[in-house]
Amino acid sequence: MGRAKKVVLAYSGGVDTSVCIPFLKKEWGVDEVITFAADLGQGDELESVRVKALLAGASQSLVGDLIKPFVEEFAFPAIRSNALYEGRYPLSTALARPLIARQLVEVAREVDADAVAHGCTGKGNDQVRFDVAIASLAPDLKVLTPAREWGMSREETIAYGERYGIPAPVSKQSPYSIDLNLLGRSVEAGPLEDPMSPPPEEVFAFTSSIDSAPEHGENIEITFECGNPVAIQGVRLDPVSIIREANRLAGLHGFGRLDIIENRLVGIKSREIYETPGLLLLIRAHQDLESITLAADVLRVKRELEMKWADLVYEGLWYGALKEALDGFIDRTQKHVNGVVKMHLKKGNAIVMGRNSSTNSLYLPEMATYGKEDVFDHQAAKGFIYVWGLPTRIWALLNRN
Ligand code: ARG
Repeated sequence: MGRAKKVVLAYSGGVDTSVCIPFLKKEWGVDEVITFAADLGQGDELESVRVKALLAGASQSLVGDLIKPFVEEFAFPAIRSNALYEGRYPLSTALARPLIARQLVEVAREVDADAVAHGCTGKGNDQVRFDVAIASLAPDLKVLTPAREWGMSREETIAYGERYGIPAPVSKQSPYSIDLNLLGRSVEAGPLEDPMSPPPEEVFAFTSSIDSAPEHGENIEITFECGNPVAIQGVRLDPVSIIREANRLAGLHGFGRLDIIENRLVGIKSREIYETPGLLLLIRAHQDLESITLAADVLRVKRELEMKWADLVYEGLWYGALKEALDGFIDRTQKHVNGVVKMHLKKGNAIVMGRNSSTNSLYLPEMATYGKEDVFDHQAAKGFIYVWGLPTRIWALLNRN
């Protein structure tokens, strides 16, 4: 593997990815580093990020607005899949990685680069997601991972950067490691590394605390079409605005915080704080709507496959064969998931209060009722139970002591 000449680097503006620029050039003999910063709705000032890369020695600094594809092609499928890793984490960080990888590859093709690079360390999940996604989209491109190999401590990294004109972080360094985008924030490290100590309020930015959430709750209504959220309070919104509005409402009422011990792909258990208000709200509503619109057997199989889907996304297999096959099943189920879910938001809770589907409800009032409109054939139950219980009765006859 000869040395790379032209490299496209995934760039965030932080110290690590900034140091990657001189490092790639001076230590690894790369001729040209072109940076790519993705706008995923994280709210950073990307013009200053763009300039930072140039000051650190990038020959070109590109910024791409990926918010719309992020929501439509990554967040919405996750909602349709009710994707919760280990039953809890809605994959806010994990979902962004295959998209950034796809864009890196696209930029690499445009500028005719022979490699791409990222600043992930060797301990996390993100390196796996990037490496596998890039390798599956562009097997011919090299993937350079300086931060996985340079072996510098935080202090050494900062000192190295200063030698090449990369200013040390000015504000008193936050002890936390934070990743954020439109779907949420993930916070790790510092005092959070003690799994027994509660997260300080300062780690949260998208959600109110229970104490500061309004005393009065709020009723909301979320409308879905083919499993996609399309309106809140009856007001139709485009996909990005739906996520923003769900974040606002849930965040205001203090819903969407998670404090979990999570199993990383590299075998480590880590303590993670997340706030993903909108995504968790929409998944809860969506799950509920499925309970009235999906056939019982379809729903059960889907619940099993959803876990698998979440694992695949977490484990960096977005572009794999099984993910594509599962999408086929999940998307087919979603054509029935049309309707409305009523919820009440209050002090950290998002409680489902009702659901209806005018086109796809499998709930038949005349079957369910205990009143005089009942049409269920009670006599038919007898024969059913005779057959249903037959094997158990035979077994019990033989084994009764
Ligand atoms: N544990 C989460 C995940 O694997 C969040 C990772 C955050 N990434 C980061 N580079 N800070 O999806």
